[in-house]
Amino acid sequence: MDLQQSGLPNTAFIHPQGKNQADVAQLVQQVVDLLLGEMGTAAERSPLPQLTRLPSHNIPNEGIPEAELLAQLKSIIQQSMNAAHPGYIGHMDSIPSTASILGDLVAGAMNNNMLSVEMSPVLSRLEPLLLKEIAAMFGLPETAGGVLVSGGSLGNLQAIAVARNIHFPIREKGLAGLPKPPVFFTSAAAHTSFQKAAMVLGLGSEATIGVTTDDRGKLDCGALQVAIAQAKQAGQAPFAVVATAGTTVTGTIDPIEEMAAIAQKHNLWFHVDASYGGALAFSPQHQHLLQGIEQADSITFNPQKWLYVAKTCAMTLFRDAKGWQRNFRVGAPYMGNEDDAMNLGEVSLQGTRHGDVLKLWMTLQHLGKAGCAAMIEQNFAIAQVFLTSIQQRPYLKLATKPDMNIICFRSEPELLPTEQWDQWNSKLQDHLLQQADCFVSLPLYQGQRWLKVVLVNPFTAVTHLATLFEVLDECHANLSEFTPA
Ligand SMILES: Cc1ncc(COP(=O)(O)O)c(C=O)c1O
Repeated sequence: MDLQQSGLPNTAFIHPQGKNQADVAQLVQQVVDLLLGEMGTAAERSPLPQLTRLPSHNIPNEGIPEAELLAQLKSIIQQSMNAAHPGYIGHMDSIPSTASILGDLVAGAMNNNMLSVEMSPVLSRLEPLLLKEIAAMFGLPETAGGVLVSGGSLGNLQAIAVARNIHFPIREKGLAGLPKPPVFFTSAAAHTSFQKAAMVLGLGSEATIGVTTDDRGKLDCGALQVAIAQAKQAGQAPFAVVATAGTTVTGTIDPIEEMAAIAQKHNLWFHVDASYGGALAFSPQHQHLLQGIEQADSITFNPQKWLYVAKTCAMTLFRDAKGWQRNFRVGAPYMGNEDDAMNLGEVSLQGTRHGDVLKLWMTLQHLGKAGCAAMIEQNFAIAQVFLTSIQQRPYLKLATKPDMNIICFRSEPELLPTEQWDQWNSKLQDHLLQQADCFVSLPLYQGQRWLKVVLVNPFTAVTHLATLFEVLDECHANLSEFTPA
């Protein structure tokens, strides 16, 4: 095909015989230059830039010139959330590793399909091997295995679906024939994806029973025992217990070991949502915080959060890979089968799927276990500085004592009536963005507004924190000027 004769830009595809290599190279170089220019000056833009102009959403009749396309791309980058900024510390969004950016580019170019082995012969074999290695880092046995999914919500859904299928004989006939409604237990602070999972699985979102937490935000094991007994008494059928290793708002790690024992005692599936905290497995110094995770039947882990892999990259791991596959697999008769490898689309929620494993593999090869550990240790160190700075200020209060590098706190100035504290903290969030170039988030936790930081960016330095606390102190000193809306 002659691209130009067909009215297409000469760079529409990379010609398989290299006929347009010079033109494509020029376009790619321009994008690389743009990207490096913008990412290399990320610290000069706001962590949360103002949205001033959306790109044109009209689909042009003729393709627009490349120069115009690049100009629009530049405008998109400049107005987008800027996770690379050292002051972007509000959510579980890390700066992506260079290897993962490149891995995504290459995966996009190869356009293999993780649905089946014949459509991704290398990546479909690499993914289970790599995930088995990661499962071993969590202490799961040789029987373990897993699959990548697009985010932690799907990871949790995948795990709960398998747990349900293993616990109840409903694969073919569905839930309607069950004598008792299935329920499972999480902490009240667990991620909302469990309610979604329960809803999607036909259990109803109320099948997720949120157990109360203690003053550190950790699931209360006594309350869990009571909740299990009450559910049984009420004619419900408990089938799983979920621990969270790194809750979304306070980064709290549930008492995993104790919860595993309770799950075992009641013959319940034990899932650990380590979407965030799973990265601790890469830190010899801090992996003890995950003690008990080795007893999990399934684990969700998102390298897209704290392992610096570009989105999306998440996984569900199973202690018994064969059991998972037996209880979930729906064969795709339009796919070939190989003796040595599984069609991953047959044993997981997603069918066609991006080759996310490439950027995960590239990141781990590039940084090594030691590199990952070094970043995690550095995050703990900066979190300690942050924590000390809070503790030095009597007007600041912690939501919970942090377990790792997520810190949730708020200002409770005595001079203001308590009913104005939420608004005051919302004001502080604005001030921090405008005056300290720091984006902190403003989650609702136990009915109140808090300021939350997630200290994952390796470029966030003590000087950034010093500016942040200076602005907080200044605001506190000028409290009398505050007028609530
Ligand atoms: C503890 C926890 N689990 C699950 C999720 C869901 O992950 P995702 O947003 O990738 O679907 C999150 C998201 O922040 C989370 O914090």
